[in-house]
Amino acid sequence: MDMPSLKIGSRISRLPIVQGGMAVRISLSPLAAAVANAGGVGVIAGSGLSADELTSEVRAARAATTGVLGVNIMVAVRAFKELVHAAIAAGADLIIAGAGFSRDVFSWCKDAGVECVPIVGSARVAALSQRFGASAVVVEGVDAGGHLGTDRHVDDLLPEILDAVDIPVIAAGGIATGADIKRMLDAGAAGVQMGSRFAATRESSASDAFKAMYVAATEDDIILTKSPVGLPGRAIVNRLTTRIAAGDYPKIERCRSCLKDCGKEYCIIDVLERAQRGDVTSGLVFAGTSAAHVHEVPAAAELMERLVAEWRVAEEGAA
Ligand SMILES: Cc1cc2nc3c(=O)[nH]c(=O)nc-3n(C[C@H](O)[C@H](O)[C@H](O)COP(=O)(O)O)c2cc1C
Repeated sequence: MDMPSLKIGSRISRLPIVQGGMAVRISLSPLAAAVANAGGVGVIAGSGLSADELTSEVRAARAATTGVLGVNIMVAVRAFKELVHAAIAAGADLIIAGAGFSRDVFSWCKDAGVECVPIVGSARVAALSQRFGASAVVVEGVDAGGHLGTDRHVDDLLPEILDAVDIPVIAAGGIATGADIKRMLDAGAAGVQMGSRFAATRESSASDAFKAMYVAATEDDIILTKSPVGLPGRAIVNRLTTRIAAGDYPKIERCRSCLKDCGKEYCIIDVLERAQRGDVTSGLVFAGTSAAHVHEVPAAAELMERLVAEWRVAEEGAA
């Protein structure tokens, strides 16, 4: 028995597994190419990169795979337009746009023959996205790692989104195992997007200390924290999140004006970069509840093989 493939507009991946884009510099070309080569959709996170850096990441991934490659960019970043155009010019198949809604991105993608996939948290925004020309939508629930656009679980949101649109719906947030994938596909999702499990793979560009935090984390360690983006973020508890909870924000050393609208409590790019580089005490370790399922750091292809095998066991058990 084979897992169904995933069709997003004209692009088809053999497996219905999208590796979520993870900023800053967690999902770069090595991870995206490995996932695409293993039959999923590999996604580079563009937020926090310069257009030149994103161009070289997309080109490197494109050179390493003929599979489906996406670039995730937060609408909230000031350089959104420049980054979308850089990703398209460098050869991305899809643009995945989260943390906000942009009407313009649909026409930029359409003009270039690239698929546009917004991340949505409500049926209203899903329907709007379809009307503007989305090829698919990602519906992300509250268990996801990173910034959250909803306080609802993906299992609750998915039926509403499926009722609202005819395009493929990709479910995200708290999907950790092959059995979870089966649950989402059975509920009508065309595919799943998983971030946390891929953050702790060998090809992820996170530091070893970041990956070790995932391996050690239990459910109780994965919490919500305040972000200057204006959305809550899900992360692993550490000295920084304890400080944030107490309103004791780290000083902004240098503001790059990277967000269109920043609360300026602290610099989100700075703390994400710190964690990516290995300072997991004063850096922010974004992680979803699925990080509690991480017990080791496999290669991305190994993780995907395991997910497929788990999905098959769940399918056969249900037959
Ligand atoms: C470390 C990390 C960084 C993330 N960065 C982004 C990002 O830059 N843009 C975005 O839309 N989603 C981001 N996400 C969310 C993922 O793309 C994905 O939707 C989410 O992780 C799915 O939930 P899961 O972690 O439970 O698998 C991030 C998630 C993690 C864990």
